[in-house]
Amino acid sequence: MSRAVYPGSFDPFTNGHLDITERGASIFDELIVAVLVNDSKRAMFSVNERCMMAREAAVHLPNVKVMSFEGLLVDFMRQEQSRVILRGLRAISDFEYEFQLAQMNKQLAPETETFFLVTDAKYSYLSSRSVKEVFKFGGSIKDFVPPGVFRRMRERIPQRQ
Ligand code: PNS
Repeated sequence: MSRAVYPGSFDPFTNGHLDITERGASIFDELIVAVLVNDSKRAMFSVNERCMMAREAAVHLPNVKVMSFEGLLVDFMRQEQSRVILRGLRAISDFEYEFQLAQMNKQLAPETETFFLVTDAKYSYLSSRSVKEVFKFGGSIKDFVPPGVFRRMRERIPQRQ
């Protein structure tokens, strides 16, 4: 059985993340969306909120599980008995960072393989950071995030679209 891990900060989970999750779930028998427990002071949402939003967005995908992880990704991979890291690639600008991450993970755990899915063109401009920025300055983020994420972001500042 093939089990892949799709790691990220997911602060918040966007339609681009959902696209990679859906496509990953159609390729692998099981897909774990792994939410990094990172510096909560810098994140807009707590790790629990980020997990809940990802879970809600992927509720239609029975072979997707959302979990949080702390520390090294390769340790989590070993714990979950998975060898495949799934990442989305948007533009060339992503490549350098992704290449470094994949090489480092390979160095730390030679059994791991990083698989890249090229982001659907309609999401190529989308990132959690840009969604937060548009939201912060009052722009509409409705088309960029799953409905549950939209709702939660609006709960933060109700007058926002
Ligand atoms: O969505 P992001 O923030 O680009 O995801 C980055 C992530 C979570 C995949 C990466 O930061 C990560 O795996 N962090 C855990 C620590 C680790 O294992 N780092 C790899 C060696 S540099």
